[in-house]
Amino acid sequence: MARRGGRATSRFSQRTCPGKVAESAVWLSLWLLLAPSAAEAGLYTASDQILLLSPGNVEAALINSTAAMVVEFYASWCGHCIAFSPVYKSLARDIKEWKPAVNLAAIDCAAEDNRKVCTNYRIRGYPTIKFFHAYSKADSAGLAFKDFSRDVRSLRHKIIDKLESHVEAWPPACPPLEPTSQAEIDIFFETNNVQHLALIFEDAKSYIGREVTLDLLQFENVAVRRVLNTEAGLVTKLGVTEFPSCYLYYPGGNFTRLPVNIEARTFYSYALQRLPGVVRSGRPPSFTTFFHINTTEEPWRPFNKSRVYMSDLESTLHYSLRVELAAQPVFKGEALRSLKKYISVLAKYFPGRPVVMNLLKSVNSWLQNETSGQISYEAFKDILENSAQIPNAALPEGVRWVGCQGSQPHFRRYPCGVWTLFHVLTVQANSTGGSDPLEVLSAMRNYVQNFFGCRPCAEHFENMAMESLMEVNSLSSAVLWLWSRHNRVNNRLAGALSEDPKFPKIQWPSPEMCSACHTVKENGEHRWNREQVLPFLLSYFSSSSILTDYLESESQILEKQKKKHVGQQLALLAQKPVERRIREALDSSKPPPSPQPTVQEEEEEEEEEEEGPQDEAVADEEEEDGGEAKPEPTPWSKAEVEAGRGWRLVHRKPSIVGMRMREQQEDIVDLDSFVNQHYRAKALRLAASSRVKQRSLQRQQEQEQEPRSAFELGMELDGGLGMVGLQPLEADPELDVGRQRKRLQKRELSGRFLDGELNHRGRWMSVLSIGFSKLDISLCVILYFLSSMCLLAMYLFFKNRLRLRRAKVALP
Ligand SMILES: Cc1cc2nc3c(=O)[nH]c(=O)nc-3n(C[C@H](O)[C@H](O)[C@H](O)COP(=O)(O)OP(=O)(O)OC[C@H]3O[C@@H](n4cnc5c(N)ncnc54)[C@H](O)[C@@H]3O)c2cc1C
Ligand SMILES: *[C@@H]1O[C@H](CO)[C@@H](O)[C@H](O)[C@H]1NC(C)=O
Ligand SMILES: *[C@@H]1O[C@H](CO)[C@@H](O)[C@H](O)[C@H]1NC(C)=O
Ligand SMILES: *[C@@H]1O[C@H](CO)[C@@H](O)[C@H](O)[C@H]1NC(C)=O
Ligand SMILES: *[C@@H]1O[C@H](CO)[C@@H](O)[C@H](O)[C@H]1NC(C)=O
Ligand SMILES: *[C@@H]1O[C@H](CO)[C@@H](O)[C@H](O)[C@H]1NC(C)=O
Ligand SMILES: *[C@@H]1O[C@H](CO)[C@@H](O)[C@H](O)[C@H]1NC(C)=O
Repeated sequence: MARRGGRATSRFSQRTCPGKVAESAVWLSLWLLLAPSAAEAGLYTASDQILLLSPGNVEAALINSTAAMVVEFYASWCGHCIAFSPVYKSLARDIKEWKPAVNLAAIDCAAEDNRKVCTNYRIRGYPTIKFFHAYSKADSAGLAFKDFSRDVRSLRHKIIDKLESHVEAWPPACPPLEPTSQAEIDIFFETNNVQHLALIFEDAKSYIGREVTLDLLQFENVAVRRVLNTEAGLVTKLGVTEFPSCYLYYPGGNFTRLPVNIEARTFYSYALQRLPGVVRSGRPPSFTTFFHINTTEEPWRPFNKSRVYMSDLESTLHYSLRVELAAQPVFKGEALRSLKKYISVLAKYFPGRPVVMNLLKSVNSWLQNETSGQISYEAFKDILENSAQIPNAALPEGVRWVGCQGSQPHFRRYPCGVWTLFHVLTVQANSTGGSDPLEVLSAMRNYVQNFFGCRPCAEHFENMAMESLMEVNSLSSAVLWLWSRHNRVNNRLAGALSEDPKFPKIQWPSPEMCSACHTVKENGEHRWNREQVLPFLLSYFSSSSILTDYLESESQILEKQKKKHVGQQLALLAQKPVERRIREALDSSKPPPSPQPTVQEEEEEEEEEEEGPQDEAVADEEEEDGGEAKPEPTPWSKAEVEAGRGWRLVHRKPSIVGMRMREQQEDIVDLDSFVNQHYRAKALRLAASSRVKQRSLQRQQEQEQEPRSAFELGMELDGGLGMVGLQPLEADPELDVGRQRKRLQKRELSGRFLDGELNHRGRWMSVLSIGFSKLDISLCVILYFLSSMCLLAMYLFFKNRLRLRRAKVALP
């Protein structure tokens, strides 16, 4: 940032865009035509810690405010403004702690809505910076910064100058900035109830004392005063020889020099903010009970704050893969690509234990194999849980935070783990010599954008990535990029509600962790020594310095996984007997291969006579109408019956799905009902086929209705076959179409199965039935013929006997 600021200074002159409001108005209208929303095209976003002004909030912000305001009036099309915006953002980050006393704001005068505001404040060129005192009046036009230079330091000094120009109402949050005297110090602790008084000795031109005072504005239990080198009494008393220098002064009159690496603002501020008893206002006190806190449900795990723990990394993987990703039922398109990239980066660079690596690699090769363009989380989870039981592969379950423990359950943990994970991955990519400098960072960007549960975080991160990710051109610059963006987030979040008071956000690493990382420019401004930061990061996050405390052993993990698999298998087995019983029942219910025709013939005949009229009745009803307005107990419509049959005719083969559905129909598979059903079905089919043409239109309409009638096939089968065992489909309007269709298919298949069997059995039965009635007729004829012959024979017999008798009587 500082580098950029410097460049901006040298490249652009000190002038603001010359006053061409009239000309710009023309451009403005052109711009507005081209850009749908100029407001969106503004140079700042909400995450820049700059108040974005609009007609709606400008009065509340500028008039009668308790804090002084610095406002940049800019036009988003103005090149100088674009060049200046990084400086202004840096300034906002730099004086973030001063907010209660002085706040930064910006307004885009190129946005049509804002034009009136800019005109009211008599803005003639861009960018213009104006200072508004605390408690400004409505008619105040603010004080313009004349000929300001484009660097943070001089802007900061200008702001201090303006702050000191308050005459009447001093911003209430702002501590006194004028130099102190021996007399004031002597009575200081009588009038102030603070633990520490820091005295910064400096010359009159120096701003350090005032800057540090403002930096500590939001901290309690500490006060800062500047002492000029001309204040001979104090200088002599404390024996000060170096300017600037900082001393801590105590009530008894004793004092001590503040130990810092470099005598500069950032070092003073950092050291003072960390004195014992010093806390951010409104935050619970003390770091002293640090390792004895027990506000979480788990036992506290002591850890070294300057180390990375494998337990945090594995916990992050668990949470990310098992919890966060589970929010996506299916991955496709962008999400699938992001998932593949993420897993691939993990498989490549995660410095995990062998079991974890084996698992990650198996998940990765499975994912990369996937070409269908869509996978379900369930399928992914199967691989993740190693259902295939690849030896020596497992991802430990559950979280066990160590370095990412928070003092409260809602602090740190997973997001802390995500940062740590990606720092480790960028460092691993550098040290194992990855090929693509952006591989890890773009995987992280996609992960955060697609899956990271904290949506505002994702938005902020995406803003940063869009702004500067393309600057990354080597593996080591990827490491540094993530480090510096993380520090930006830390800066923004310092003092926010999400900050764990026991783990305050700092510009990391602290001087204690890496003093060589910090240095100053000639002008005393803090500067990161990147040549030192890079090796520090490479060593801090290197796989060899990751601690393995609190980890379950690999064999324990594998044991747990095995138990889980066994448990699942047992559950499966417990289901098996049920299925087997059903299958057995089905087998026994099947008709014997060679049934005895005689018995069946008789039964069949009887049934046909009994059931015949009923079937006719059904057929009659069908003819009456579509079955809709009928006060009739069967709720299914005939068109649906037909539709169902239509499907059945298309699919003939019996299937396993059908077998399973049969389990609910065990009670109906005796021969009688088969015969019975056969004839009912036949009658129905006959009736239906005779009406196919007339009703095809109606059928179409009814088929289009979703969800379909609750009973359709179930009841159709029932109506046709007398199967009460089939449960009706629930008429759940929330059932999605696909599921409904699937269930229908299942039912249809079961119907198909039965139908197939019936057809098979029915064929020979019907042949028999026809032959039988013919036999019947011929038998009757024969019987009739035989009985007539019998009568004739009897007649002839008796006739002859009479004749013989008459002859006997005539003889004597
Ligand atoms: C991508 C992303 C975006 C986020 N955006 C937001 C947001 O917009 N708003 C919000 O409230 N929260 C956000 N968070 C969460 C927030 O950044 C912290 O992760 C969370 O508040 C927990 O903070 P922490 O104290 O554990 O430290 P973290 O910031 O999580 O850091 C974890 C550890 O990394 C180390 N570390 C710290 N700084 C650096 C650095 N610069 N370089 C290398 N290592 C470092 C330290 O050891 C630290 O303990 C985001 C998190 C992520 C992962
Ligand atoms: C300004 O604010 C103060 C308190 O914040 C209030 O007393 C005063 O009436 C306000 N003045 C105007 C003009 O709004
Ligand atoms: C200063 O003196 C007081 C007693 O007068 C003592 O309690 C305190 O620890 C001393 N502080 C330092 C920094 O020496
Ligand atoms: C914290 O409390 C939990 C139960 O509330 C207990 O199990 C745990 O041991 C405690 N930890 C410490 C360090 O005392
Ligand atoms: C923590 O780790 C650092 C770096 O390895 C080491 O110098 C320090 O002694 C450790 N602190 C503790 C308390 O173990
Ligand atoms: C991926 O596909 C290849 C070839 O198609 C096959 O040999 C390999 O076993 C597959 N890997 C996985 C994990 O499915
Ligand atoms: C990191 O990458 C840089 C090149 O970008 C390389 O010079 C350096 O050796 C790498 N670091 C390590 C530890 O391998």
